[in-house]
Amino acid sequence: MPYGSWWRRHKRAFWQHFHPASIDRHISIQKKYTRMFLRKLLAEPSRLREHIRHTFSATVVKILYGVDVADRDDRYIALIGKVLSVVVAFTPGKYFVDVFPILQYVPKWIPGAGFQQDFETWRTAALEVKTMLFREATERVGAPGSSLYAEDAGRSVIAQLAERVDHETREAAFEEYEIIKNVGLTAFEGGADTTFSTLQSFFVAMSLFPEVQRKAQAEIDFVVGPNRLPDYSDRDALPYVNALVKEALRWQPVLPFSLPHSTTEDMEYSGYFIPKGTILMPSSWACLHDPEVYPEPGRFIPDRFMRDGQLDPDVRDPARFAFGYGRRICPGRHFAEAALFLNIAMVLYAFDIASPIDDCGKPTHIEPRMTDTMLM
Ligand code: HEM
Repeated sequence: MPYGSWWRRHKRAFWQHFHPASIDRHISIQKKYTRMFLRKLLAEPSRLREHIRHTFSATVVKILYGVDVADRDDRYIALIGKVLSVVVAFTPGKYFVDVFPILQYVPKWIPGAGFQQDFETWRTAALEVKTMLFREATERVGAPGSSLYAEDAGRSVIAQLAERVDHETREAAFEEYEIIKNVGLTAFEGGADTTFSTLQSFFVAMSLFPEVQRKAQAEIDFVVGPNRLPDYSDRDALPYVNALVKEALRWQPVLPFSLPHSTTEDMEYSGYFIPKGTILMPSSWACLHDPEVYPEPGRFIPDRFMRDGQLDPDVRDPARFAFGYGRRICPGRHFAEAALFLNIAMVLYAFDIASPIDDCGKPTHIEPRMTDTMLM
């Protein structure tokens, strides 16, 4: 969606529910699903990846739509997954049409017009899913039944946005509903895969850098004690865990080239002429791995953000790069950081993370490897 008034209306609707002061509203849901995540890890640690995916997908679906997803093989998550496969299209050069825009006029039945078929599938899936989830969220609010159920569902982001739609004219109301449906789907799309990827990198890092893990656990044990799980309210008292979250965002950034943007007019930058319509991709990776700013960038060192036992405000915050730039900066960043903090603190409180044990009882050697798609 290009920058403009249509985008601004989406941003405004989204931001009402994800600005820093609104994050507290989502914490109880996040905590519930993180506790579920801990139980799943305990029961079936070998399904780690699946559990991570589930915990973020379920949290976001609940916050947005008020829907409780099933523990496994959930139909909502499966449907949304179909829509999420569109992410591959964000990789410039994936389709010839990026290089030869004339191809966009080729009918989809011509052999080789694969992108047309793919876009058609995604478009249909997106329309189907956003409409169905919107209906679910709004029907729940008015549904007869237990008042607790209705009250709980009424708190969902989509239900709250829908309640405020002004029905003065049919066209205006139609537009508002369209925006709300889009906000739901893009929030899911923006939120589920990114946090999923960051938490996976966290698990890899903990297996590779056990001394970091022990230090974080010692801080948690000291502050939280043995009788309760860490809470969001412990955030300020756990600077090292906060530093660890920053390092998780920096070490293997989910979007190393952020998202591609396109210039809206001819411009000149540092002596280079950049014509209108040029695709620009910021190398967030280079900024996050700049050895001048982050010495030994390939190592996972949360201590780089610490000074005298507290977070050092003079070290550049990786959030400045990991979440994109300018007016299109990730609007879910405050929620993402809160969700990562809770998951990381609670996992470290309850578990030791180590590489798998081989047949002789020895820990196996892990070599991290990243996927080569736009979203790592
Ligand atoms: C670790 C977690 C996350 C990372 C690293 C991340 C990163 C990013 C980046 C790099 C962009 C592109 C910014 C640009 O175009 O310059 C973006 C956009 C976006 N993100 Fe996130 N994100 C995360 C979590 C979330 C969450 C939890 C949500 C929703 C609750 C979310 C919603 C969005 C949306 C809606 C956009 C599109 C904004 C627009 O086009 O104007 N993200 N994110």
